[in-house]
Amino acid sequence: MAQHDVADLSLAEAGQVRITWADGQMAVLASVRARFERERPLEGLRIAACLHVTSETANLLRTLIAGGASVELCASNPLTTQDDVAAALLHHGVEVHAIRGEGEEAYGAHVIAAAARAPQITLDDGADLLSVLHTGEQAWRADLIGGTEATTTGLVRLRALQEQGRLRCPVMAVNEALTERTFNDRYGTGQSTLDGILRATNLLLAGRTVVVLGYGWTGKGVAVRARGAGASVIVCEVEPMRALEARMDGCEVMPALDAAERGDVFITVTGTRGALAGEHFERMKDGAMLANAGHFDVEIDIEALASMATARSQVLPLVESFELQPGRRLSLIAQGRVVNLAAAEGHPAAVMDMSFANQALCVEHLARHGADLPARVLPVPPDIDREVARLKLASLGIEIDELTAAQRVYLTSWRA
Ligand code: ADE
Repeated sequence: MAQHDVADLSLAEAGQVRITWADGQMAVLASVRARFERERPLEGLRIAACLHVTSETANLLRTLIAGGASVELCASNPLTTQDDVAAALLHHGVEVHAIRGEGEEAYGAHVIAAAARAPQITLDDGADLLSVLHTGEQAWRADLIGGTEATTTGLVRLRALQEQGRLRCPVMAVNEALTERTFNDRYGTGQSTLDGILRATNLLLAGRTVVVLGYGWTGKGVAVRARGAGASVIVCEVEPMRALEARMDGCEVMPALDAAERGDVFITVTGTRGALAGEHFERMKDGAMLANAGHFDVEIDIEALASMATARSQVLPLVESFELQPGRRLSLIAQGRVVNLAAAEGHPAAVMDMSFANQALCVEHLARHGADLPARVLPVPPDIDREVARLKLASLGIEIDELTAAQRVYLTSWRA
């Protein structure tokens, strides 16, 4: 059995059931896997992944193994690991270092364990693995071919490294690929964020006021689904174009301080820290609920909340109540961690199908061309996006038209 630090080996069978279920929704990845099995484009490569340890991730790793790679895995968030999947992955030959709920120290040690095997290609969701491979004088970064990064937050970190001239390998910004951005954030996070909040609280959304902080793709996805469930939606946004778009999409738009007095449920998806802080908590109604769907648990200022509280109690497994004054309590869901993964199962497999097919093709791209690519954060080649969309349509049995020769000429000519 591969090297490991997982919670419970006896969970492997249950994990395999989940992996197989997800696989049934991941037809694009399955077709990439079938091709990888034939062509073996990753033969002999050492790959390390720092990703959410879920059944969908398991199917991505199976695909990389089918391509000929050896793979190890650590978690990209200590609260999102599915322990049964972690155990099952050992039977696929993946070295797994991840335990749900692990403390900061164990989390860091697991990332270092993945880095210590001198990976040639990395897959990150938050840039923790590549960050470790860039700090100190570790010898293992020597044959790094490149990496992929799956979150906005991770890209911010890697671009900061690049600005300082310290990025040492090409990194494919899979988070910015069209097939990822369009489907993952809007449909995947949109649906699963509400799924997480509902699983944690069993709340009825109809008739409530949901405040969405941030109106990027994810905020848009959350807002439209909250409206569909019967809630009124208020959007708080700092970027004028997005704020206007929110208004035209039918949401109320206002500063967060004003929204604080109105909301029943607050969902942060800004990508930055302190979107909800003491001044907001002071104004919130009794019973207001707080959830974060951003990558890091910095969007809700939990320290401020804790320091304002006269008492706190765990009222449900994933809900902590903070009493601010007698008769006024705020509920924090999943400790302010990324709620769709901490309280639910993350993006549905049918969405991760496209994200992970994209990642598998980016890994193949790095394996074939990494040596010729600059040490920068790079866009995913449009051909990869198109191929993923083409395969997804095929898996859905949807055919589309092609441009005629005359249309193609028209579209490339300056004559009307
Ligand atoms: N990120 C968001 N949802 C995910 C999932 N289901 N698996 C892996 N990473 C994710």
